[in-house]
Amino acid sequence: MTVAAPALCPLYSGHVNPQWVRLLNVLEMNVRYERCAGAELFTSDGRTILDFLSGYCVHNIGHNHPDVLAALKAELDRQGPAMLQSHVPELAGELAERLCERAGGRLKKVFFCSSGSEGIEAAIKFSRACTGRNGLLYAHGAFHGLTCGALSIMGDPFWRSGFGPMLADAEAVAFADLAELEVKLETRRFAALILEPIQGQGGIRVPAPAYLQKAQTLCRRYGTLLALDEVQTGMYRTGPFLAGSDYGVEPDIVVLAKALSGGLIPSGALLMSDAVYDSVYRSLQRAIIHTSTFSENRLAMRAGLATLKVLERERLGERAVAAGEYLRLRLREALSNYEMVKEISGAGLLNGIEFRAPAKLSLRIPFEAFSKIHPGMFGQALVMRLFRDKGMLTQICGNNFMVLKAAPPLIVEERQIDEFVRAAADVVELMHSPGAFWSEALGLAQRAILS
Ligand SMILES: Cc1ncc(COP(=O)(O)O)c(C=O)c1O
Repeated sequence: MTVAAPALCPLYSGHVNPQWVRLLNVLEMNVRYERCAGAELFTSDGRTILDFLSGYCVHNIGHNHPDVLAALKAELDRQGPAMLQSHVPELAGELAERLCERAGGRLKKVFFCSSGSEGIEAAIKFSRACTGRNGLLYAHGAFHGLTCGALSIMGDPFWRSGFGPMLADAEAVAFADLAELEVKLETRRFAALILEPIQGQGGIRVPAPAYLQKAQTLCRRYGTLLALDEVQTGMYRTGPFLAGSDYGVEPDIVVLAKALSGGLIPSGALLMSDAVYDSVYRSLQRAIIHTSTFSENRLAMRAGLATLKVLERERLGERAVAAGEYLRLRLREALSNYEMVKEISGAGLLNGIEFRAPAKLSLRIPFEAFSKIHPGMFGQALVMRLFRDKGMLTQICGNNFMVLKAAPPLIVEERQIDEFVRAAADVVELMHSPGAFWSEALGLAQRAILS
């Protein structure tokens, strides 16, 4: 076991975010990455880390895919127009056509942006424009981004508090509860129901197969748009191009980001029906009623086109399904008999290992002590052990600290999955004996206080 000396990172600490440096140091995860390729991250001290987080579902095609690098270099060498803001960027048309073809259904137009939150902000505005209503419905446990509109459709007070009033007219329903949903929708006050088809930060929550379709039927009945946040689930992460396709829905709006441009250039996209588009951009005067400076930039568009090609040529959706089934099977075999392991859930390569509080007194005492210090403490001790001792990068879910993510790039190999499962089994075994795991977690708490 090597304990990393805290890295100082003086410029970043001085001028960007010293608390982030502190946090990584406390978790002993502040390493310098020299090079990243596929699912592997190579550190300056000679370690190889396996990436089972994928930057929260950014790196579907793996890190630094050579095709996307080559496409970007060629695009730069072309020296074409950049950020002119007074021409028609044809590449945006090309990428939009391909996204709409794959999304199918009623999605015919695209608004490009540069992040997931920006896509969600557009979804809020556009659904209001289309329906003439202000209300927004979202699910408990949702994560949609940290801008004010997106925060307004996320219930967790941790993210919101101290940032002033959020949008009025946003209300939550329980995820996957149709009865409660209908009661809200009946009021006909809601412009959109905004949902992740599978909740990511909420704890990799996969709804019952019929839920989304029934929710869509209710939305249509009461004149509410269905907007799917596929920022994590889209781009073949769970198998199909959009996770919503597995549930047979035809949403009015879909938001994509993260994996859209191969992990190298910021990019996001809102896919919408013609009806939504027409309600927003309905006249010549409104041609630029909603825009964003960097949205259709040619590097993001080129990266998006190259990324789609890789995803399809390498059949990464099919690989995500097969590799995901294998990962869940192996995790269940290795972990199911441990009392603190509650469930292995997921779809494709978006997976979670859910833990629960132990019943055995010798474990319950330290577990409860850590929960009192911070509810995320147990999960962070797990993440730290996996990283430092086993060379596995992952994280707990932001809105559900008892779920550990297992979401590697879709190009992950079977031997790498086996390695991850072995590492997880070793750490879970350690966690079930009263010694090392728990005393180490106490050290983590002390470092957090003293750092
Ligand atoms: C489901 C989901 N929606 C939206 C967002 C916001 O995306 P961004 O961080 O690009 O603004 C995230 C970010 O993690 C997300 O997971």
